[in-house]
Amino acid sequence: MSKGRILSGMQPTGILHLGNYEGALRNWVRLQDEYEAYFCIVDWHALTTLYEDTKQIKENIRQVAIDFIAAGLDPDKCAVFVQSDVKEHAELHLLLSMITPVPWLERVPTYKEKQEQLQLESASYGLLGYPVLQAADILVYKANVVPVGRDQLPHLELSREICRRFNNIYGEIFPEPEAKLTEYPVLPGTDGRKMSKSYDNAIYLADSAEETTRKIRSMFTDPLKVYKNDPGHPETCPVFALHQVYNKAETEQIAHDCRAGTLGCVACKTRLAEAMNQALAQVRERRKELEDDPSKLDKILASGAEKARVIASETMKQVRSVMGIG
Ligand code: TRP
Repeated sequence: MSKGRILSGMQPTGILHLGNYEGALRNWVRLQDEYEAYFCIVDWHALTTLYEDTKQIKENIRQVAIDFIAAGLDPDKCAVFVQSDVKEHAELHLLLSMITPVPWLERVPTYKEKQEQLQLESASYGLLGYPVLQAADILVYKANVVPVGRDQLPHLELSREICRRFNNIYGEIFPEPEAKLTEYPVLPGTDGRKMSKSYDNAIYLADSAEETTRKIRSMFTDPLKVYKNDPGHPETCPVFALHQVYNKAETEQIAHDCRAGTLGCVACKTRLAEAMNQALAQVRERRKELEDDPSKLDKILASGAEKARVIASETMKQVRSVMGIG
């Protein structure tokens, strides 16, 4: 039985890495069986920081969509769609913007951070309104639950405030959306720092088995383990951190042998690469299928948008009616 409706979104950043997979996608794949689920590639949100260079967006959307499906989102179970394909998000965003006090938006920590990070002289109206658009994404489906990472909590809180304010003024239309946090391991990249596209240390879902093996071989390890038979410190080693995620069956043995100085880093990396390539084989296969048949992806996104529109247009009818407009 369905527990309710979930919606989550991700910006079209291009191919996704294992950090994105473990941090969000893997969880979404599980949730699609428990909820009526909507997963949105938020291209309008991407414009809040990328407005000058939009040439890449189309291809980036495709790559993210391919990774969604390859990771196991099943278009028969959930809706995978592109935000700008469902114009109702924009209409609700406009209407919600009328009831959202500017100081609420100026208080959102990501607003200041983005301004500093991008060294913007003056932030755009769209960047300030980022959380209003996010609220529209959620409320237009009357989603009860929003699976997100911890970094999104301020945005979610604002969505809830906007929701309450709307309901107070116009009547109870929207259920208050709840964040669903999942604890997940922060994956280290090849240099031991957090895996991130901008650090150039990421392993991608789109990487081949050979590429993955090559990246694993180049990984940083415990700096105190210089020779093969030196005792190592798995708790500080990024290779071990990946074993804990992709090679659970062998983790204990590997920790033991590393500490004892009987397992060298080269052999340890070979075992990790094998385990990872096995764990990712199915994702890669599905990825290749979608790359080889672009029309298949087009159909998936079109039918996702159609499913989404059914709900979104119904909500907008109610919204227009209670607001007495349009
Ligand atoms: N702001 C989210 C992020 O950067 C993306 C997002 C947009 C989103 N709309 C959403 C997430 C609605 C959850 C629900 O990750």
